[in-house]
Amino acid sequence: MAMRPFIIGNWKMNGTRAMLGEARAIDRAAQRLMKVEVAIAPPFTLIHAVHREVEQIGVGAQDCHTGTDGAFTGDVSASMVADAGAKFVILGHSERREGHGESDALIRQKADDALEAGLRLVLCCGESEKVRDSGKAEKFVLDQLRASLPPLEDGADAVAEQIAVAYEPIWAIGTGKTASIADIEEIHAAIRGLLVETYGDEAGSEIRILYGGSVKAENAAEILAAEHVGGALVGGASLSAESFLGIVIAASDIETN
Ligand code: 13P
Repeated sequence: MAMRPFIIGNWKMNGTRAMLGEARAIDRAAQRLMKVEVAIAPPFTLIHAVHREVEQIGVGAQDCHTGTDGAFTGDVSASMVADAGAKFVILGHSERREGHGESDALIRQKADDALEAGLRLVLCCGESEKVRDSGKAEKFVLDQLRASLPPLEDGADAVAEQIAVAYEPIWAIGTGKTASIADIEEIHAAIRGLLVETYGDEAGSEIRILYGGSVKAENAAEILAAEHVGGALVGGASLSAESFLGIVIAASDIETN
């Protein structure tokens, strides 16, 4: 089963109810672009409202806490975001790793709890500019993933439904710089190798590996056509339906990798 390209908008700490119109517009257009799986991850405060507004697109959370409930002031669990309407959760984003000190082990624990709550995972990885300049990007990214990929045992198609990996080089996030196509292909091929090693040939080849970092309508076609790129995780350009849909249309025009 070849998976559709997966384009996810990560709204980060942006959006009030005034943004619901953008979600509706994305949803309407997605109904005509069925070759692409489209989703948005709004802030916690909008998950339920977006879930109620849309019919076609997926809705997810940008993070979750471990466990199901308890005395964790300010935190939100996987089962709580699932109850609000989320179908997936982004875990291990560099803004969580760097800004909130999240370790690979914590991300792995969150992955287990999110799966338990019935959520699909979008597991992020990516190196800093310093690591890239030292020539150790591939090792760094594979080490992050090795320590945070959860066991998945339900058959190849189910595994590929349950998890996507997002490679987001930190220096490309919100900077307008993107990795070169050669660099993206090199890291994505290495991630593909690890996924095959971890989940077997069939599942490992199906799991979508998304690229993230300054993806916009203008560069999406080239990035999405690169080998082993199965979609995009989009920050800034997902905040308006117009710019986000430019990326979705680019994905719709491309053969799945
Ligand atoms: P930008 O698209 O704004 O660079 O953000 C990428 C990102 O971090 C998505 O998770």
